[in-house]
Amino acid sequence: MSRSMANKACLLASMMVFAGTPAAALAAQPWGNGELTPGERASMVVKRMTQAEKLSLVRGWLGVPYRPNVPTRFAAPKWAHNVIGSSGYVPGIPQLGIPALQETDASLGIVNLGGMLRPGDVATALPSSLTLGASFDPRMAYAAGAMVAREAWHKGLNVLLGPGMDLVRDPRGGRNFEYLSEDPLLTGTLAAQYVRGVQDQHVVAVVKHFAMNDQETGRGWANAVISDSAMRESDLLAFELAVEKGDPGAVMCAYNLVNGTYSCGNRYLLTEVLKRDWHFKGWVMSDWGAVHSVDSANAGLDQESAAVLDRRAYFGKPLRRALRDGTVSEARLTDMAHRIVRSMFAVGLIDHPATKSAIDYEADAEVALHEAEDGIVLLKNDAQLLPLSHTVARIAVIGGHADVGVLSGGGSSQVYPIAPGAIVPIVGGDGPYEGLRMIFDPSAPLAALRAAAPDAQIRFDPGIYPSAAAKLAKWADVTIVFATQWSAEGRDLPDLSLPSGQGELIRAVGAANPKTIVVLETGSAVTMPWLDKVDAVVEAWYPGQRGGEAIADVLYGKVDPSGHLPITFPKDSGQYPRPVIPRSNVEEPKGLGPAKSAGTVFDVDYSEGAAVGYRWFFNENLKPLFPFGFGLSYTSFRYSHLRIAGGRRLTVGFDVTNTGKVAGKAVPQVYLMSRTGRKLQRLLGFSKVPLSPGQTRHVSVAVDPRFLADFDTTDDDWRVPAGAYAVMVGRSATDAVLTGSVRLKGELLPP
Ligand code: BGC
Repeated sequence: MSRSMANKACLLASMMVFAGTPAAALAAQPWGNGELTPGERASMVVKRMTQAEKLSLVRGWLGVPYRPNVPTRFAAPKWAHNVIGSSGYVPGIPQLGIPALQETDASLGIVNLGGMLRPGDVATALPSSLTLGASFDPRMAYAAGAMVAREAWHKGLNVLLGPGMDLVRDPRGGRNFEYLSEDPLLTGTLAAQYVRGVQDQHVVAVVKHFAMNDQETGRGWANAVISDSAMRESDLLAFELAVEKGDPGAVMCAYNLVNGTYSCGNRYLLTEVLKRDWHFKGWVMSDWGAVHSVDSANAGLDQESAAVLDRRAYFGKPLRRALRDGTVSEARLTDMAHRIVRSMFAVGLIDHPATKSAIDYEADAEVALHEAEDGIVLLKNDAQLLPLSHTVARIAVIGGHADVGVLSGGGSSQVYPIAPGAIVPIVGGDGPYEGLRMIFDPSAPLAALRAAAPDAQIRFDPGIYPSAAAKLAKWADVTIVFATQWSAEGRDLPDLSLPSGQGELIRAVGAANPKTIVVLETGSAVTMPWLDKVDAVVEAWYPGQRGGEAIADVLYGKVDPSGHLPITFPKDSGQYPRPVIPRSNVEEPKGLGPAKSAGTVFDVDYSEGAAVGYRWFFNENLKPLFPFGFGLSYTSFRYSHLRIAGGRRLTVGFDVTNTGKVAGKAVPQVYLMSRTGRKLQRLLGFSKVPLSPGQTRHVSVAVDPRFLADFDTTDDDWRVPAGAYAVMVGRSATDAVLTGSVRLKGELLPP
């Protein structure tokens, strides 16, 4: 069957199933013709819209179904009968065949606020996005996106408010666990694949938060100060890749200001960069409560999300008035509606409407397991303590609620796991943690270890008293301490220590038994003043709903650890450009920071520019605790036959061989180390290479010239200077295995 016939057949089938619904209305209209381009179809349908219909598309609501007991301002309109219950809702235009947008959070699984939104409904909880970042594996990103979107589609939800993809500029950032890495290439590549995975399920992906939402403290009034060129070479470059290679249906603008203007009213970001330079065809939606004026429409904002959270519903009456008095043009409103509908056609959520149906949770749990296994990082392994031998008879498991489950991060991305997990209330008084709860995904490492080693004696101590834990450690042949660092949206970490005296616990246990393995469940980097007291350290991040098993699989060597750090682990936060998080010492209004609870605007001076993370450490000659890209394995890899080709474009080729005894996955990284005689470090390429013992594979990296270039704001173009380029293939940002250099002719590229 030809593609067009298949399209028609599909359309006919959906017409039959959905007679009397938007699909039936669609079939009767010329824009129901799937052979036309999404743009053509959108133009046809938008031409037929009244102004009121267009306006209905650009003003969003909270996705809470109207119920007599819900305060009306927090609910979708009473007349909206099809609200499924999710983060956001935009009514459809059924008479034209346009379905409602049912918008759900987000990157780590489908959010349901513990049943508040859709009573009784559950979802698969993936590991944190930093785990995905640590996988260095674009295929994993695709699989994760596809899994989450599949669940969305089968719940009738058609817009996924993810992936989050701001750069990790500060390890204390409260949402780091929702972001992918500190590097634009790694972040942009993974985000693009995640988007593709999502949209192949006919669900719109929304990359967020555009842009520079790099700290949570005062996020609604933090003003990111950074030069345009530095932004283009860092945070914006990540978004540029995701837009170019992933083609997301929507972009979400952020809470914070950028260079003096709120992101959601920022003409430079939304119109000049995103729409003009990057040719973005989708729509820009605001973050929840991030709009500050109706003029945002002129700056490039296409849709106000959950307008009730803004000081006024700007894209309601004020926009109508602005259209009347001409301060916003009808042509602009038409463009806003067109962008929304075009993405709906392009992603297929009109031709393949999301439909409530059965979900294969077992298959989805496998994705969660593999992602965790792919992203766990082995940081230290003295005396080859790991993998654990099945002959180890006595094992002490200590702390971290390892008898209950594995930690997850808080905020709008919080997935309440399928089986009831454990909820630990935060005793935060009226401080920033008020009302928030820590949730453990019910995949207990203790049970998983017992299943992996049925012959071992495994005892547990909760780790409350270091002395009691040390006593158990003395009894054991090997001790495994689980340590957690909880983080959440809306608040940054005060510092990078392990909280609640866990550092002291590790010291006491390590002193009692040096054959100690520390397993970290963290939302970001932590400092490790206790590092020399233990033989092994495993970074498991927030490993999701099969996390306990993934940890056991890595500890027992069923899986070779192949995760590599997607962020630098510093010796302490003083190594970063801002030793104190701006505004963290000021008492701010409560709340997560949307416009309504406005505080005073303050500057966050990103004076490091594009030198984020390892680039900063390189420039400043700083030695981190563990560098970006670092990760050990149970096998060993040899790199050889470096070939670097220059001239017009740079390509780097080399061989990698598994020289050890077990199968593993190498993660070679290609870095620029200097350009025309000046020291400069940038990640230029990476690969995840599965290798059986003795196997060799060739890796070839065609370098995207933007990663070699400066962004020049006089003419808004990328400039690759002519001259010598030194590159290295590394095991991490600081561990070179092959080095060489080549000359490039230099070039000038349009933005
Ligand atoms: C978050 C977004 C989220 C939205 C809807 C906001 O507070 O910043 O990431 O998608 O809420 O829940």
